[in-house]
Amino acid sequence: METKNSLSSELPSWRPACLRLQEAGTAAGRRPAASQWLGDELRGESGPSLWTNVTVLAPPLCPPSSGAGRVNQPQSRRRTRFATMLRHRAVISRLRQACRLQSVPSRLCIRACSTNDSLQPQCPSLAFSGDNSSPRGWRVMGTLLGLGAVLAYHDHRCRAAEKSPHIYTREEVRSHSSPETRIWVTLGCEVFDVTEFVDLHPGGASKLMLAAGGPLEPFWALYAVHDQPHVREILAQYKVGELSPEDKAPSTLQTSDPYADDPIRHPALKVNSQRPFNAEPPPELLTENYITPNPIFFTRNHLPVPNLDPETYRLHVVGPPGCQSLFLSLDDLYQFPKHEITVTLQCAGNRRSEMTWFKEVKGLAWNTGAISTACWAGARLCDVLAKAGHQLCETEAHVCFEGLDSDPTGTAYGASIPLARAMDPEAEVLLAYEMNGQPLPRDHGFPVRVVVPGVVGARHVKWVGKVSVEPEESYSHWQRRDYKGFSPSVDWDTVDFDSAPSIQELPVQSAITEPKDGETVQSGEVTIKGYAWSGGGRAVVRVDVSLDGGLTWQVAELDGEEQRPRKAWAWRLWHLQAPVPAGKKELNIVCKAVDDSYNVQPDTVAPIWNLRGVLSNAWHRVHVRVTP
Ligand code: MTE
Repeated sequence: METKNSLSSELPSWRPACLRLQEAGTAAGRRPAASQWLGDELRGESGPSLWTNVTVLAPPLCPPSSGAGRVNQPQSRRRTRFATMLRHRAVISRLRQACRLQSVPSRLCIRACSTNDSLQPQCPSLAFSGDNSSPRGWRVMGTLLGLGAVLAYHDHRCRAAEKSPHIYTREEVRSHSSPETRIWVTLGCEVFDVTEFVDLHPGGASKLMLAAGGPLEPFWALYAVHDQPHVREILAQYKVGELSPEDKAPSTLQTSDPYADDPIRHPALKVNSQRPFNAEPPPELLTENYITPNPIFFTRNHLPVPNLDPETYRLHVVGPPGCQSLFLSLDDLYQFPKHEITVTLQCAGNRRSEMTWFKEVKGLAWNTGAISTACWAGARLCDVLAKAGHQLCETEAHVCFEGLDSDPTGTAYGASIPLARAMDPEAEVLLAYEMNGQPLPRDHGFPVRVVVPGVVGARHVKWVGKVSVEPEESYSHWQRRDYKGFSPSVDWDTVDFDSAPSIQELPVQSAITEPKDGETVQSGEVTIKGYAWSGGGRAVVRVDVSLDGGLTWQVAELDGEEQRPRKAWAWRLWHLQAPVPAGKKELNIVCKAVDDSYNVQPDTVAPIWNLRGVLSNAWHRVHVRVTP
């Protein structure tokens, strides 16, 4: 039967069970109402029948305690299954209604009866001829009685289960920490078997595995985005029981707020996420100054801000084979020639919200403010690497950086850049200890951070604790499983992070900061302001502005510092004062920048859309009304 096949192949770990349902009061020849409720999901049954063959999937009555290994299947199929499972939950609840069966929330409790394939869909005659000569009739009757008994018994069990859920000790939960033993976690006093969900976890399987066999609370405290009704709803589907009363007390793992020690922030910042802290300045403040003041410089944190003691801080620079490592104090770093440069730092997710308007993406909804400019000072990385004994080599090599911010398991933020860039004095990569003439603020990497001019913000590792030269890129999640671009056709079922290079130099970018979208401007003359920047030291040579959605263009005036050739590390602010065409009630203002390689921004989001919403640099558009 097709339904059985499709459902059981979609959910291999659930038990397929064929259930013959009699719809009370349905006349022969009428399509059973149950199948109407179940809709398209019941494709297998056909023809007029009092009986409906329904295949349902039931989870194991008792969660397997061991030995139930994970079915080896491609991740994309598992994702499809997950989506299908959510769909089938709706089907199942309709089925419950159809069957008028009691159920335990979050667990399907329709018990399988044995399938008798010889039973053809037809109206069974319950009016027996009086003798025993109709074995078929008795078979039907026997099956009916058997089914009734089984359903009644299971209904009873379900009610019992509802009243008394399975009870587990923390010790038992701890023993379920691998695919072989199945993966259990707890939240509050509830126990969940998340084995089937691990590979579907949006933050990556490895992150969920950190909680295997233990409580989720420390991780939810860290990644606060989890504590939402829809996440709890997904989790509820995996509930297998509750903790024993003596184990209900909070676990000994520290669950206090890991962000409690984060610094106080400027109230002008628009907060995208509080924990970890991510915020951007309002656009009109962004272009108020060429240099962004430290308190409103955009902040992109993945973890709590470490509170480091400048006296005891040491930068571990791993030496090449045969050489000793350096452990540099701040004073040691001050001994290197102090190098100062003005650098714009942009997050790969800047303007992600515009991609979301086109099609959903995963990530923080940054507007135009995940970009800022500062004057950074520090030791050049090439000088420090040379002091440790490193040289440029012929073979491919990467400089890996590790931050001192880490999650409860000690996993630190990390990233890498090619050794060639790190060793190039012209690339001016810094181990910066000053930002706009001040010690780095805590949010921006105190006491030392990496600044990689012309390169995506993710590689500017803050609170840097370790530098090493490796034959391969950093193995950090943020180097290998994030901050990569993909074709618009790639989705979460087909994405292969290993197939794409990590983002390093960013493409040309510009945005309008004034007027704001939806604002009303005076008729007569309008002043338009914005920023423009390109990666890799490519200078912005022109910004074009249109008041009519891109039909006609005017060239904006570039403000701010002239840039050095091939070292245009910082943005150009720009403005255009233009007459508002007479009679216009609204303006569709558009900007696009051109860099010195004649790279230009794409006109729309569609061709550059990608599932993580990075590299969003389409023409920036704002729509304003004009006062009469
Ligand atoms: N370094 C560490 N140690 N931890 C982080 O979370 N975030 C990175 C990078 N360096 C990050 C980090 C990202 S994604 C960006 S865009 C920049 O820092 C942001 O730097 P800012 O917060 O100083 O603006």
